[in-house]
This record gives sequence, C-alpha cells and structure tokens, in this order.
Amino acid sequence: MSSLDFDFLIDHLLEHNWVALARALPEEVVKALREEAKALWQAGNFHNAKVGREGEKVKSEIRNDHIHWLDETNLSDVQMSYFAVLNEIKDRLNRELFLGIASFEGHYAIYPEGSFYKAHLDRFQDADERVLSCILYLNDNWQPDFGGQLRLHLEEKTLDIEPEGGTMVIFYSDRVLHEVLPANAERWSLTGWFRRRSLRDLF
Ligand code: OGA
Ligand code: MN
Repeated sequence: MSSLDFDFLIDHLLEHNWVALARALPEEVVKALREEAKALWQAGNFHNAKVGREGEKVKSEIRNDHIHWLDETNLSDVQMSYFAVLNEIKDRLNRELFLGIASFEGHYAIYPEGSFYKAHLDRFQDADERVLSCILYLNDNWQPDFGGQLRLHLEEKTLDIEPEGGTMVIFYSDRVLHEVLPANAERWSLTGWFRRRSLRDLF
C-alpha cells in the first residue's frame, strides 16, 4: 500500500477537475526514476515530442520537449513500483468515480532550457481513450525562478504548479486546458494518461 491520501485525491478531483499531491511517492523512487530518465536521455533514447495523435508532426512552436515512451509490457523495476501506485489509484477511481479506466500509457519527458508546451487539452478530437492526465515531476530541488510551471486554466482562475520532484498532478484530460511555461533549467517528468477502452470499439 502506498501512503497516498486517496480520500483527498478523489474529493479534490471530483470537486475541481484537478488535484496536486506533494511527496506522492517515496524520495528514493523519484530519484531512481530521474536517474533512469537521464540515462535513457544520455543514451539517445528520446525523440522530439509530436503534436496530436501518433504520426502527427513535430511542431516546435507549440511544444519542444523530448520524450521516451514506457513499454507497459516490459517495465523496469522502478517503473513497476510506480505502476503499482498507479494501479491503486486506478482501482480507487474506478470504484468511486466509475471511470472505467483500463490501462495507463506514459512517457518520460525532458524540457531542455528554453522549452515550453503551449496551452492545450490532452484528449484528441478523434480519440476518446484518455480520461485523466497524470504527471509525476522528477526534478531535484526545483527553484521558482527556473520557470517551467504547469499552468492550469481553470474556469474560476489560473493556477501555476511548480514541477518539484515527487509532486503528482492529476486532471481530466478533456476538460482542463493547461500549458508548460518556458523552463530556464532542464525539467524532468513522467507524464501519462489513465485510459478507458475507446467507445468507438463498442460499435
Ligand atoms: C503534456 C503536458 C505538462 C507538464 O505532456 O501533455 O501537458 O507539466 N505536460 O509536463
Ligand atoms: Mn498536456
């Protein structure tokens, strides 16, 4: 069992469409994920992130991060400990919010100095699988003057979240407009989506 405050997670998500949890995972797990991401980056295992669905284009005026997709069928040990937590979250969400989440897809992301991701939603117009976005930040000792905040454009206000290591943010992929402000330092994260089966597959 993880020490996540599931009641807070569910209540806040239900009421506000988003939730942020500081120290969501043990420090050593965050550190191991960060080190794994950096090793993959140094080995050349990232590529420029694209905009839209698979096969779409690199559009550096919209986003200029680099990503490495995780292979859910071949997880490393530390990825498995993260997925164990994600599974617990999934079970609670399905049980209490009836979200029908079936799987998780995710990638490491690095925003090199000067990188950003302009305001967008995470659900594509022609694909309805993504229910919730779930981001885990992997930065060590992030400083406010580094920029790189996750900005949520909510109905009632704009909210900036610092990408401090161990902070987890969850929000509805189709409802919460969000962006990554320009980062003045390397910014690391593990970003993913809780997915349901496509409604299109039912017909
Ligand atoms: C994304 C995204 C936000 C962040 O990858 O779709 O919006 O804070 N990331 O990294
Ligand atoms: Mn996004």
